[in-house]
Amino acid sequence: MIKSGTVVAIPTETVYGLAGNALKSSAVKKIYQLKKRPKHNPLIVHFSSLEAIKQIAVVHPDCIKLAKKFSPGPITYVLPIKKNSGISPLVLNSKKQIACRIPNHKTFLSILKQSEVPIAAPSANMSNAVSTLRAVDVHKEFGSKIKMILDTNKIKIGLESTVIKFGSTIQILRPGAITKEMLEKTLRKKVSLPAKFKTIEAPGQMKKHYSPGIPVYLNQKKEKPNGALLVFGRYKLKGRHIFYLSKKSSLEEAAKNLYVLLRTAKEKGFTNISVHPIPNKGIGRAINDRLTRAAG
Ligand code: TXA
Ligand code: MG
Repeated sequence: MIKSGTVVAIPTETVYGLAGNALKSSAVKKIYQLKKRPKHNPLIVHFSSLEAIKQIAVVHPDCIKLAKKFSPGPITYVLPIKKNSGISPLVLNSKKQIACRIPNHKTFLSILKQSEVPIAAPSANMSNAVSTLRAVDVHKEFGSKIKMILDTNKIKIGLESTVIKFGSTIQILRPGAITKEMLEKTLRKKVSLPAKFKTIEAPGQMKKHYSPGIPVYLNQKKEKPNGALLVFGRYKLKGRHIFYLSKKSSLEEAAKNLYVLLRTAKEKGFTNISVHPIPNKGIGRAINDRLTRAAG
């Protein structure tokens, strides 16, 4: 299906991807249409190896260091595309750069190897909505508009990959499970976090994005009227409006639960969602980044 240009949903270790053959503009167009995604928001392309990325993009020396350490894994490299790469120009940003990722997911990797094509795959959700971690949520987003959703065991990470860009400095365009500290330790140089309110290079940076469709309030200790409360840490709170991100105060566990709980709270009919303060370190930075955008 991938080879022939059909768009399908495939899980990765981060979130579900809405996947299509990156060599076929017809498939890439279909992805944009299905998601109602603005054309200026480029797509991540998935590869089976660094060697495969080297064939189509100019790989920065720091990218090689990072790939050796973190790929396959939840990290995406924005690189200049080579001429005659065969990749659909629709996936590129305005500077003709391509975002490349090697997913750490057995089935996805096996599909990449067997189809022998790079796979464009943004998160499998409508543009601006919350990403999906379960086949059932992908189905709620797209219904019969897509021909196949590959069901899978529970997704491991739950937040989209870290997106980074190379230049005179290394810049994080979108924080994720591979943190600034991890990048700095491997590269032995400073890495900068997303610049707030600057011009948008990765529309994942747009202020209102990742929205569950009802108001979200950050750093709250109590719920609001008709609202749900997402709790972080060991509390004795009870009631159908209480949802635990992590009782043991694990940021990794909270990351994995965040999108599912935002969706569940809305589906249960709550009209707003308050969220406990989340420590702003490690993957907590990525959680706060998504929550800040969810709050708009
Ligand atoms: O974990 C992930 O990255 C998931 C899974 C499916 O791999 N994919 C994902 O894709 O989150 P998407 O399209 O929802 O988010 C891609 C982010 C967006 O913020 C987009 O603007 C940015 O990466 N991006 C994609 N291509 C880019 C490029 N060429 N230059 C700069 N940013 C780019
Ligand atoms: Mg997305």
